[in-house]
Amino acid sequence: MSTPHNQAQKGEVAKVVLMPGDPLRAKYIAENFLENPVCFNTIRNMFGYTGYYKGKKVSVMGSGMGMPSIGIYSYELYSQYDVDTIIRIGSAGGYTPDLKLFDVTLIESAYSRSSFAQVQSNDPDDIQYPDEELCQTIKDCASNLNLSIKPIRIHSSDVFYCQDDSCTKDAMDHGCQAVEMESFALFHNAKVLHKKAAAICTISDSFAFEEITTPQQREQCFNDMMKIALEASIR
Ligand code: ADE
Repeated sequence: MSTPHNQAQKGEVAKVVLMPGDPLRAKYIAENFLENPVCFNTIRNMFGYTGYYKGKKVSVMGSGMGMPSIGIYSYELYSQYDVDTIIRIGSAGGYTPDLKLFDVTLIESAYSRSSFAQVQSNDPDDIQYPDEELCQTIKDCASNLNLSIKPIRIHSSDVFYCQDDSCTKDAMDHGCQAVEMESFALFHNAKVLHKKAAAICTISDSFAFEEITTPQQREQCFNDMMKIALEASIR
């Protein structure tokens, strides 16, 4: 059994999948954070691995960039591989000065003008939500680790390069504090398939100010996000 985008056999994917956008990041996480990682997918280099964290089976797979891409991979994981929970671990651009670079955020709602939900299931809602219980678990794990995680509304955008700032203004008018390109579709797929989804994003850039960042800072905040996500994945 496989799909056009995933060559894994049923049983090779854990019930919980962590999804970074970048497939090489999935490989890095598997090789550095999981025990005995085994690669289950290489189609289009969208690497997926299953390994163990503190003795529990966990998978990690790239989602690619944007809603069409995460839409495909998450739908197949939920519907073809019996995955129960997907936790996106991504990056986002901060809209407001309250969000500093490297802040770790928990996405409590995703606003989008994307047609993804409308086309996928005639869902007219322009706000999609993660699983509440899973979000509480993530907050508890962050607190147990003494790490701060900021709950925010994200703007899931279809466009990275906009000609003017009207889409940013519209998103901020709808209460969005940062922008990425995936959570809305992931939350929608989880909703229609009666599965669980959440998203944790580190702030990688900001519309509010310019700052110089060092590789050490980037690595530290990535490690914080990973610790929270891994602990939440085995609860
Ligand atoms: N992900 C990280 N930064 C982003 C930005 N500025 N726009 C869209 N997605 C992002």
